Amino acid sequence: MNLVAGIAIRELKPIDGGVYRALMLRGYSEHPNAFTSTFEERATKQVDWWSRRLQDPTSSTLGAFDAGDALIGTVRLEQYQRARERHKIKLAAMYVLKDFAGKGIGRKLVDEALAAARKMGGIEIVNLTVNSENLPALRLYGKVGFQEYGREHRAAKAGDFYLDKLYMWRPVSADYVPPI
Ligand SMILES: CC(C)(COP(=O)(O)OP(=O)(O)OC[C@H]1O[C@@H](n2cnc3c(N)ncnc32)[C@H](O)[C@@H]1OP(=O)(O)O)[C@@H](O)C(=O)NCCC(=O)NCCS
Repeated sequence: MNLVAGIAIRELKPIDGGVYRALMLRGYSEHPNAFTSTFEERATKQVDWWSRRLQDPTSSTLGAFDAGDALIGTVRLEQYQRARERHKIKLAAMYVLKDFAGKGIGRKLVDEALAAARKMGGIEIVNLTVNSENLPALRLYGKVGFQEYGREHRAAKAGDFYLDKLYMWRPVSADYVPPI
């Protein structure tokens, strides 16, 4: 557990399924264009589905907790499974509650996720995707050294409009210095 200005970051366990579900449903509902999954899809999943997600040995989910031990932010690491892709990991499902946004919690979650990926052993690269219009997330990822390597046009369709996804990557190494 890591304490930063009253915020504790720790890995979520299956027992956290209920609070994790509540937090993510709020994220899908408040920021419908930030995620590929929709509130409607994910609201049908009951707590046991979310707990299984937290139990999945091929992923790791970090939670940020406030001083009252309420879950206020989260991010996931999802390992690639094929033999030739096991040097890579995906960062996904990043969300910080609106009331706590802009206080450095998102940054801390990404830093901790990178540190966790380093500890796994064998991981060399972290990938992520982000909606091309999600400026807060793009700035955050840029600040921690992620670089864009591609764009998927019309990656998601929401009603009658489309969203492009940007693909970003960075080496996991703490020594990595991104090009300017
Ligand atoms: C994106 C998100 C996770 C950022 O979390 P956060 O805790 O607010 O971020 P931080 O306070 O750690 O900010 C880190 C950096 O992100 C950028 N940033 C954060 N919020 C921003 C905003 N509203 N506008 C512009 N840049 C912003 C800044 O570069 C900031 O660094 P700085 O304050 O030194 O300039 C949060 O806004 C969120 O949950 N958004 C909705 C869900 C989402 O978009 N998830 C990502 C899906 S890919």
